[in-house]
Amino acid sequence: MEPAQESFHWWKHGVIYQIYPRSFQDSNGDGIGDLEGIRRRIGYLKELGIAAVWLSPMFPSPMFDFGYDISDYTGVDPLFGTLEDFDALLNDLHAAGIKLLLDFVPNHTSHLHPWFLESRSSRNNPKRDWYLWQDARPDGSAPNNWLAQFGGSAWEWDEATGQYYYHAFLKEQPDLNWRNPEVEKAMFDVLRFWLDRGVDGFRVDALTHLIKDIHLRDNPPNPDYHPRQSDYDQLLPAYSADQPEIHDIVRRMRRVLDAYPERMMVGEVYLPVNRMMVYYGTDDSRGVHLPFNFQLITLPWNAPQIAAAIDQYEGALPAHGWPNWVLGNHDQPRIASRVGADQAKVAALLLLTLRGTPTVYYGDEIGMRDVPIHPDQVRDPQGLNMPGKNLSRDPARAPMQWDGGPGAGFTGGTPWLPLDRNFPRVNVERERLDPHSLLAFYRHLIALRAREPVVAEGAYAPFYADTQVIAFLRENLGQRLLVAVNLTHKPCHVGRHVPPGTVLIGTVPEREGERVEGTLGLAGDEGLILRLETGSS
Ligand code: NOJ
Repeated sequence: MEPAQESFHWWKHGVIYQIYPRSFQDSNGDGIGDLEGIRRRIGYLKELGIAAVWLSPMFPSPMFDFGYDISDYTGVDPLFGTLEDFDALLNDLHAAGIKLLLDFVPNHTSHLHPWFLESRSSRNNPKRDWYLWQDARPDGSAPNNWLAQFGGSAWEWDEATGQYYYHAFLKEQPDLNWRNPEVEKAMFDVLRFWLDRGVDGFRVDALTHLIKDIHLRDNPPNPDYHPRQSDYDQLLPAYSADQPEIHDIVRRMRRVLDAYPERMMVGEVYLPVNRMMVYYGTDDSRGVHLPFNFQLITLPWNAPQIAAAIDQYEGALPAHGWPNWVLGNHDQPRIASRVGADQAKVAALLLLTLRGTPTVYYGDEIGMRDVPIHPDQVRDPQGLNMPGKNLSRDPARAPMQWDGGPGAGFTGGTPWLPLDRNFPRVNVERERLDPHSLLAFYRHLIALRAREPVVAEGAYAPFYADTQVIAFLRENLGQRLLVAVNLTHKPCHVGRHVPPGTVLIGTVPEREGERVEGTLGLAGDEGLILRLETGSS
């Protein structure tokens, strides 16, 4: 049992909603979303029922990686507004009962950050050691074989000072040296700056990258590499990421947050389950509150694989570890494109009824798809640097579809990325009026989580799974729900005797209120929640 005081924090109950600020709402007609735009849409967020917004970076940045290359950690980029706009947004979100998580990007700065400008100015600059500088090998080549995630070597030669610097992502994103205590102090001060301003926590970018092998050993080749994959996947990041020393840093980072009440952090951790679990820390020395669990993104949409993954995840969680689930983010293809429009409600049902905190990516709640982007219009460096592999992340970053009017209600100007042609049909305004829309379904499920403690807090137990269906139980204080989802387009049955219950909500609205016992059949693309009768087994 968990100690009572940490039992049900807001971040365990509520839904996190990710906003990519460039694409949510433009308020000044420049075609790029901004903070004032988000503030004007708080009514929508409240109606949706989410508990917290996670805002992708809005700090000053030359935008080589659209804000993940930060040149000032304690300001707001003029594209998005001012610090006053930020305070107004935070204030109004809080007034609406919504928390705010910021994106914390500790692994790297922009190459134009004053720290890096100093660091590269000379070999004996006091900030030289704030970044990772290395001599060339005797033949002039890079210190080792490490690859950058956005293509090419992870080492960039600096002519002026005659050394290489390391960058896990773009050369415009040099990595900080987290073995240097001054770096840690400066970055923890950044956390305190925003915590003092009232933010409720952080999503921590690229967390597994902070520490690299001290001997800089070569990474091994990936035996499963396929040329369709990113060039980066040619090697396994055995020495360049997820090093054991990272956990001491995460624990100290956690202590910064713990000095403030009810704050939380969620870490970006793309790792196999058992290694991801280490980021929770231990019972008496905590790590991040939630290491993102990306399995619903990374696994094929296949019932036996997902069913097994759910149980492996539940089984691997440490006693103090709270689960979480995600269907999409700004780096991955959208869920509606991965599983198809017909499965979108099934995916929502799974996300919002599994045990753990759900994160919803903006626009997924209305069924936005990946938007085709002409090669000449690609903006994302991952797409530009590795052409021909369809690796651009732009399709999942298109503007929010608010209504069928010009600019989809997103902008009065020219949107920075093209709108999906379907926006006159697929938009918030239309779906709000349609009781059977995907948006209405999300709202009902989020409201159900808020209303019924069994959905947010109940224990999880597997019930049945086969090649089509996943069924599981949630149970709390005598309340029992059975969730069944059909991950295929063909009808199926739950192959186990179902205890008596009544359909609470499902993708087929006509079934609501239906009594079920023994046999439970599901149409293709159907999912539902049964409230089981008390005393049934
Ligand atoms: C992960 C972020 O989600 C992604 O958008 C970014 O490009 C990299 N980290 C580098 O910061």
